[in-house]
Amino acid sequence: MYRTISQEDPFKICFVCLGNICRSPTGEGAFQHLVNERGLQAFFIVDSAGTSAYHIGEPANSKSQWVANQNGVTLHSRAARFKASDLEYYDLILAMDHENLANLKALDPAGKHHDKIRLMRDYDPDPGDGAVPDPYYGGMNGFQDVFTMVMRSCEALLSELEEKLDH
Ligand code: 4NP
Repeated sequence: MYRTISQEDPFKICFVCLGNICRSPTGEGAFQHLVNERGLQAFFIVDSAGTSAYHIGEPANSKSQWVANQNGVTLHSRAARFKASDLEYYDLILAMDHENLANLKALDPAGKHHDKIRLMRDYDPDPGDGAVPDPYYGGMNGFQDVFTMVMRSCEALLSELEEKLDH
């Protein structure tokens, strides 16, 4: 389903959750970390957004940041709300759970962009029910679980996309 990815036309990915302070900043940070590790910065534009406006302008949640840092990943996001016009811009839009997936698809009633709106865990080799559970009201274990699922999914996704690179 993917196009050829070149430095002239980098592949644009957006991770999306509800608040854009826990799960999707972790997706953005983990994927960017892998891209950097593999020296592929010129080929990818990585971003995140939320389907709600609850936390606009905020940095990632301190527990998300702590877990990411423990794993060598830095989270740089500032929360923004996903806009209908973003559907045109990104090549791949990855929802963290089924509700966010439905909310993203509802921004595009005609379905023009539905093929590029997916669950992130569609790429997870151990996908469970396809959702990354919302960690916001729970303890540290939930944040660690989020990181593990996100990193596993991002590794698989990047390996798949690397086959499309035009070096
Ligand atoms: P996120 O987590 O969607 O992973 O960023 C949440 C953050 C905030 C809220 C819910 C989930 N909230 O209700 O404010």
